[in-house]
Amino acid sequence: MKTGEDDHPAPAPMEGRGAYNRNSRVQAAGLAAAIPLFEKAARNCTLSDSSDPVVIADYGASEGRNSLAPIAAAIAILRQRIGTEREISIVHTDLPDSDFSALFRTLVGDPDSYLCGGENIYPSAVGRSFYEQILPSNSVTLGWSSWAVQWLSRMPARIPDQVHVSSSQDAVAHAAFAAQADYDWRMFLNQRSRELRVGGRLVVLTMALTWSGDFGYHAVLRALYGGLQDLAFKGEITAEELSRMVIPTVGRSRSDLIAPFGLGNRFADLAVEHAEVFLEADRIWQQYETDRDSKAYGARWAAFSRASVFPTLALALEPADDPSRVQNFIASAEAHMAARLAAAPEPCDIPLAKLVLAKLAT
Ligand SMILES: C[S@@+](CC[C@H](N)C(=O)[O-])C[C@H]1O[C@@H](n2cnc3c(N)ncnc32)[C@H](O)[C@@H]1O
Repeated sequence: MKTGEDDHPAPAPMEGRGAYNRNSRVQAAGLAAAIPLFEKAARNCTLSDSSDPVVIADYGASEGRNSLAPIAAAIAILRQRIGTEREISIVHTDLPDSDFSALFRTLVGDPDSYLCGGENIYPSAVGRSFYEQILPSNSVTLGWSSWAVQWLSRMPARIPDQVHVSSSQDAVAHAAFAAQADYDWRMFLNQRSRELRVGGRLVVLTMALTWSGDFGYHAVLRALYGGLQDLAFKGEITAEELSRMVIPTVGRSRSDLIAPFGLGNRFADLAVEHAEVFLEADRIWQQYETDRDSKAYGARWAAFSRASVFPTLALALEPADDPSRVQNFIASAEAHMAARLAAAPEPCDIPLAKLVLAKLAT
């Protein structure tokens, strides 16, 4: 990414080669709270009388491991309604550069795959941004999206004093991120509405803001930014590169999420059936309380950050396409972050939102 050439770059996908699958236990634990809602959606969605395949779409699947449980749960409910003969199509979607090979290997090789023992189930994938329409109109019966829509379509602004907007004191950055978050959420809803069949359901789990507007992850974000400052101090990255490093994610409050629907509870022919913000337990902290291993505590949060946000931070390197520089940066940033966390373990708040949206008749 070059300044001036593209000052609003899109985020990079998660770290590939199975790294996201191996380092996304926090996400796996958090999304479990939305699985009962997805099961209920599978029970309540309208199914056509035809023999057409039933389509389940998974938006922002990454390498797929965390999609296995929710998709298997929905299939189990659908099978009670349509029997075992009717075909089910599962479409996993992500950004074009996501590691789809790892996804397909997971689907065929993971013992927890929904393909194990299931008949007439056909997985496929789409490599396009979910801020566009990416599936045919009126084709999706059930949609699932976990830990994905917090990623904005692009970096709305630089953050002069931090790497994540939630820790920043900069009013201009806050305004730019809030405007982009609102625009992107409406865009996401519009596109999903086009794809959903009438009576279909979309379940979304995403990073959120608490009732008091807190994004959480304080210790993690402090260690992340501190680690990047260490790298700049040691000359491993330049001040200009550090200033371009931004995580283009946001937490949305419950009111942010339901705002487009207004008093009539309708936006783009979608209605909110459920919208709830909750605090997920910090499993990494819980593990630390059991084993008192501060190094492991630091390493776990650093690995979580590495797999999900370091590839996007590496876009700020100049040049960004030098593989050895990117690898050195990622390894060094992870080590500095882990050391900072290990020096002062602390629990994190993990605010999440879970929503169910129903497609209405026009
Ligand atoms: C943190 S991962 C979540 C993966 C998985 N759903 C889970 O719950 O663990 C977020 C995923 O969203 C994808 N993503 C981000 N922005 C996207 C976009 N505009 N279109 C499609 N996928 C996107 C990322 O590439 C990444 O794979």
